[in-house]
Amino acid sequence: MYAVTRTAAHQGVDSYLVQVEASISSGLPLFLIVGLPDAAVREGAERVRSAVRDALDAFPSSRCAVNLSPASRRKAGSGFDLAIAMALAAADGKCPAAIIESAVFLAELGLDGTLRPVGGALPAAIAAARDGPRRLVVARENAAEAALADGVEVYAARTFREALDLVRSNFAAEPVRTDAAALLAAACRHDDVDLAEIRGLGQAKRALEVAATGEHAILFSGPPGAGKTMLARRIVTLLPPLSLKEAIETTSVYSVARSKGDAVLVARRPWRAPHHTTSGAGLVGGGSWPVPGEISLAHNGVLFLDELPEFSPRILNQLREPLEDKKLTISRAGAKITFPAHFLLVAAMNPCPCGYWRTGLRECKCSDGDVAKYRARISGPLLDRIDIYVDVPSVDVAELRASGDEEASATVRARVTSACRRRRLGAATRLTLAAENLLAVAARKMALSARGISRTLGVARTIACLGGSEETEVHHVSEALQYRVPSEDGARTTDCTDVEPARVA
Ligand SMILES: Nc1ncnc2c1ncn2[C@@H]1O[C@H](COP(=O)(O)OP(=O)(O)OP(=O)(O)O)[C@@H](O)[C@H]1O
Ligand SMILES: [Mg+2]
Repeated sequence: MYAVTRTAAHQGVDSYLVQVEASISSGLPLFLIVGLPDAAVREGAERVRSAVRDALDAFPSSRCAVNLSPASRRKAGSGFDLAIAMALAAADGKCPAAIIESAVFLAELGLDGTLRPVGGALPAAIAAARDGPRRLVVARENAAEAALADGVEVYAARTFREALDLVRSNFAAEPVRTDAAALLAAACRHDDVDLAEIRGLGQAKRALEVAATGEHAILFSGPPGAGKTMLARRIVTLLPPLSLKEAIETTSVYSVARSKGDAVLVARRPWRAPHHTTSGAGLVGGGSWPVPGEISLAHNGVLFLDELPEFSPRILNQLREPLEDKKLTISRAGAKITFPAHFLLVAAMNPCPCGYWRTGLRECKCSDGDVAKYRARISGPLLDRIDIYVDVPSVDVAELRASGDEEASATVRARVTSACRRRRLGAATRLTLAAENLLAVAARKMALSARGISRTLGVARTIACLGGSEETEVHHVSEALQYRVPSEDGARTTDCTDVEPARVA
């Protein structure tokens, strides 16, 4: 009396298939689950017992053993319930064993046999399509999401009884279908904010456009009420729309984190703005069984850190790896868990604790020590990864009241999208001689690190792509240098005017 089926477990946002074997043998009544189950999986025994009793009128009154393999990997969560119940029912001869072998089952069971949704249905469907029987049974609430995956038939059931009927009929029902491309297209932009709402601040807007094009980390500094948060909020409206591949990736993260709400597909670029009191695990991900943090929820979108110096320096330092590698690796119990974290960092800060240092708006009440201490909270290595630093001055009444024609997000987005394409195709990788000379002089004067140089070059290339240029020219490098983070005393580390007569305004 033996049967085998499969379920899926996730590590990071990737799922792998888990084989579930059940054997019923003579002996004292006992229900045992082995194969490195965690507490939630073990507790599932009670739910499975109750659901099986409900659907089959009795639970086998002999020795039931369930083995989850590979036994070397820790199994977490409640999604194993349905597969365990299925394997037991088949081992008990209540449903055809050959058929349950041809499917993957993923759902939590209620005591009354209801199928409950679990996190990670989409990655599970992707794993089923890739490694296993291309058939997946999930709770109804998970079905549309799971069906986003290509190459797998997804079936929905409300209860364990319904799932049994599905198996007994050899999957005679219609599989659930989701048209991912249509969902993505339907999410066409109805942004609630637009760049045109911001008056003036031409330089800051230009910097925002460059950041959006090249995915360069950007930091706004300015007095309270200058419009920093307003600018940051609008960067998602400048980014090219998500591709289907990106949308599926991002949806997988939200699925595992169970923060998707009712949406089937995350069809827009995420914008995450965690508060500065957020814990390290909340920001970068973690916990004893790691879940994605804000940086992963911002995958393919924007992570906005407002009041940057208020974040704990220890937590900010954890951003260094993901900013470089676009992913985060956490080691737990011998396993390396990787979360995607390809986000665009947008940060904002005041120049000092009172907010008015060198703004010319009001007298700054902070001592030099206060200012230095405040700015030192952002570590050098993190600042080195910020490519674009912009001072945001407060606009005056005349500018605020002016009914000037501000560019709309859609116009800028069109420019960004075509420049992104040019950049991807390798445009402007060549540097003119004059540009190279300027970079060499500036690197020496500004004491740029090797990273600083290559990042400046990256920004210059982005600017060249935005300008439709074939090569990176001297004025592109010059603009990129102006975006480098200034030194401690608040002045630009160097003024390159003396080395570059053709410097742009
Ligand atoms: N350039 C601008 N055009 C239009 N409105 C603006 C502009 N700058 C500021 N405002 C107005 O001021 C409000 C405050 O702006 P915002 O919240 O972006 O400031 P902030 O720089 O983030 O300030 P803080 O440092 O206090 O966080 C906005 O909601 C908007 O109404
Ligand atoms: Mg703000």
